[in-house]
Amino acid sequence: MADIEYLKRQMNRRQFNFGLLGTAGAIASRPFPRFTLQPQLRVNGARIVEHINALAEFGKNPQGGVSRVAYSEADRRGREYVMGLMQQAKLETTIDAAGNMIGRRAGSDRNLPPLLFGSHIDSVPEGGNYDGDVGSLGAIEVAQTLAENNITTRHPLEVIIFQNEEGGLIGSRAITGELTAQELDLVSRSGKTIGEGIKFIGGDVNKLSTVKRAKGSIAAYLELHIEQGGILDTEKIDIGIVEGIVGINWWDVTIEGFANHAGTTAMNNRQDALLAAAKFIEAVNRVVTSIPGRQVGTVGRIQALPGAPNVIPGKVVLSLELRDLDAAKIQTLYQKIRTEADQIAQASKTKFDFKEINVNIPAPTDPRIRSLISESAKELGLSTKQMPSGAGHDAQDMAQLAPVGMIFIPSVGGISHSPKEFSRPKDIENGANVLLGALIRLDKASM
Ligand code: HGY
Ligand code: MN
Ligand code: MN
Repeated sequence: MADIEYLKRQMNRRQFNFGLLGTAGAIASRPFPRFTLQPQLRVNGARIVEHINALAEFGKNPQGGVSRVAYSEADRRGREYVMGLMQQAKLETTIDAAGNMIGRRAGSDRNLPPLLFGSHIDSVPEGGNYDGDVGSLGAIEVAQTLAENNITTRHPLEVIIFQNEEGGLIGSRAITGELTAQELDLVSRSGKTIGEGIKFIGGDVNKLSTVKRAKGSIAAYLELHIEQGGILDTEKIDIGIVEGIVGINWWDVTIEGFANHAGTTAMNNRQDALLAAAKFIEAVNRVVTSIPGRQVGTVGRIQALPGAPNVIPGKVVLSLELRDLDAAKIQTLYQKIRTEADQIAQASKTKFDFKEINVNIPAPTDPRIRSLISESAKELGLSTKQMPSGAGHDAQDMAQLAPVGMIFIPSVGGISHSPKEFSRPKDIENGANVLLGALIRLDKASM
């Protein structure tokens, strides 16, 4: 099955079911080396951009991007807008118990599992208008294109807009069954706990188990996304074909010192938690860069308490994030960081406590789907490059249940998680057309 030639032979045997495109069956029954879609089957690029601009109004910030963190009022209203778009695209919409938005489209073969495609619309604080939005609105556009062309696929289709991607792939981890009861009590960036947030967006935490899907119950998952790095933009390549998605581990690190008077406590008599934190941040950087590879480590959030100029910080809470395509490497780095923390604690008379708060395991994409994406791009005359994803995506959770594929488009200047994030309209249109082509090819293939 891993052999793409085999897949092509299988596909050549199959009849298309293209509704209005009545001649497609005859075309498909002739053996041909590669699939050529009906040339007129293209998305409406201008419409996707119009939808991106409209969605950008929800949570708009003065810098030109959005702050639409999951479970905020802006998120709720943005979701309503996107739900309306799904309905316009003739999708049958539901919100699952985890709060993921799903738009279904029937297939011609009831016995086949659904093909899923989508992304997320929540943002980081002070984020941009393209991360997640391009893939979500691109997926809805693909569904609308199918509807407008009266195309019925063999597989049922589900456009899925995962909730709270940025807060640790919460929606997709509910689908894999990994979302734990303890996590529901964690406070999200909206200020609400994840449990409260799920209720706020129309989910039901008491029914979370109904959201879980079995391995094999999904034919495949496809996601279009911006690259968020600068490789495609620098090398002037149209489409990135993702080989694999990095694992991401998060910890909350609490450093306990002793809060005391900043004027009367001698420098050699302090238990300064923030000074220990500074040394820790330097150690994280040093450990992560001490070995070759693409691994990254970040302390992205820090809070010093009580937080006054005239009080020695008695407590610090900071985040630690490690990413790599190899989960074992993440663990090795983590152990080295723990050793460094022990040394800093001893020297500074502080105490470090590490609490693991989120684990997203690395995931390879499916080689057969990579080939189909490549075919789809070639048919459109687009250049491609295979590349890893240093950013996390819901696709990595879906990879536990089904073969997955990801399509990247260029991010201008490689900027993301910033209001300055930008992808060109033409690249967005290209990406959505590649998604459409890959989806149609997947539908014909027996995954
Ligand atoms: O953080 C990430 O990698 C992703 O953008 N959620
Ligand atoms: Mn992101
Ligand atoms: Mn994203």
